[in-house]
Amino acid sequence: MLKLMEINTLENDTGKVIRVLLVDDEDSYRNAIARRLERRHMIVSQAPDGTACLEYLAGNEVDVVVLDMKMPGISGMETFKGISKYYPGLQVIFLTGNAAVSEGVEGVKAGAFDYLSKPVEIDHLASKIRQAWEFKRLEAARERDKIFRRRLEKRMIHTQRLASLGTMSTGIAHEINNPLAIIKESAGFMRMVLEQSDKIPEQEMLFKCLEKIEKSVDRARRITHQLLGYVRKQSRDLTPVDIVALIEDTMVLIKQKTQVKKVSVQWDPEPEGQMQMYTDPFQVRQVLINLLENAVDAVDVGGQIRLALYRQEQSVCLEVRDNGSGITPENMEKIFDPFFTTKPNVSENESGTGLGLFVVHKIMTGLSGSIRVESEPGHGATFTICLPEWHSDEQPG
Ligand SMILES: Nc1ncnc2c1ncn2[C@@H]1O[C@H](COP(=O)(O)OP(=O)(O)OP(=O)(O)O)[C@@H](O)[C@H]1O
Ligand SMILES: [Mg+2]
Repeated sequence: MLKLMEINTLENDTGKVIRVLLVDDEDSYRNAIARRLERRHMIVSQAPDGTACLEYLAGNEVDVVVLDMKMPGISGMETFKGISKYYPGLQVIFLTGNAAVSEGVEGVKAGAFDYLSKPVEIDHLASKIRQAWEFKRLEAARERDKIFRRRLEKRMIHTQRLASLGTMSTGIAHEINNPLAIIKESAGFMRMVLEQSDKIPEQEMLFKCLEKIEKSVDRARRITHQLLGYVRKQSRDLTPVDIVALIEDTMVLIKQKTQVKKVSVQWDPEPEGQMQMYTDPFQVRQVLINLLENAVDAVDVGGQIRLALYRQEQSVCLEVRDNGSGITPENMEKIFDPFFTTKPNVSENESGTGLGLFVVHKIMTGLSGSIRVESEPGHGATFTICLPEWHSDEQPG
C-alpha cells in the first residue's frame, strides 16, 4: 500500500524544500532511493504503483514525480497520461530499464521532463529532480505573467473602446444639439399658437402630440448635455479647492432627490476639518452628483449612503457607499459603457441615460484620477474615487 514518509524538511539552496513522489513497484529499491534523496534535503513520498500514485496526487501537493515505466497494473506511460491530464504543471522523470531507452524517449516525446536508465546514479537523479523543479517554478511564473498580461490587455481594450465610443458619441451629441434646439423652439411656438386659438380642429390631440415632442426633446437634451458637459471645457480648470466644502455643497444639490426617498447621506467617519486640494471643482462636482444620484437610485426608501474622505499617498480619496441593490458581476463589466443602464423606462423623462458613469470615467481620466467599484449584489455598492492632491505641472506658484 501507499507509504508516506515525510522526514527531512531542510531547505535546499533555492530556499524551498522539493516534494518528490517516487513511484516504483520494487519496495527495497524504492526505499533505498527515497532515503538517499531525503539525505539530499528533499521530502519524498512513495507509491508502489500507478493507481496509488494518482490517489496520492489527488490529496497532496507534489513538485516532481519520479515514475518507473515498468510496473504491474497500469503502466508508467498510462500513469503519466493521467498525471498530464489532471496535473498539467507537474514534472515527471521516468525511470526505464537498462535496455529500454526507446521507452524513455517516448516518455519525453509525450511531455515528460526527462528519463534516466536504471540503475540510476543518485546525484544524477537528485540534480534532474532539481532541474525539473526549477522548470516547474519558471513555468508557473510564466503562466502567472500570461494571466496578468491577458488581464491588462483586456482592461486596455476596454479603456480604448470607451475612449473611441466617447469621441464618437460626443461628436454625435454635438451634431444633434442644434436640430434639438430648433425642434424645441418650434414646439414652443406651436404651443403658443394653440393656446391662443380655440378654433383649431383636433386641438386636444395636437396638445398631446406637442407634449410628446417636448418630453422627447427634453430627454434627448439630457443625453447631449450629459455628454457635452465635460467636453465643453476642453482644458482642466485647476484651482485650490476645499474638498469637504465642495462635497457638502453637492449634498445640498441632490437634497430634493434624497428627501423624496427619505435617504440619509452621512459622513462615516466625519472628515477631519478642511482638506485642501488642487483640482477642477466643476468637474469634481459633476462626478459627485452622478455617483450620489446612482446611489440614491440604487437604495430602497429609507436607504443609507455613507461618505468617507481620506488621504492616500499623494491622493485624496472619496468613498461613496450605499446599501442598495448592488451590481451583478455581469453588469460590473458594462457599467462604464455609454448608454448602459438598468433603470427602467418609468416615463420618457425619467429613464436612465446610461451616461452618468461614462462621464465620471472620462472626467476621472482627464483629472489623472482613478475610480474603483466594489459590490456584493443585494448588499450595496462602494465607488471610490482618488484624485491627485496636487498636479505637479500646475501647482500654484
Ligand atoms: N450605486 C449603484 N448601485 C447599483 N447599481 C449601480 C450603482 N451605480 C451605477 N449602477 C449601475 O450602473 C448603471 C449605469 O449607471 P449610469 O450612471 O452610467 O447610468 P444610469 O444611472 O442608468 O443613467 P443616468 O445616469 O442617466 O441616470 C446603472 O443603470 C446601474 O445599473
Ligand atoms: Mg446615473
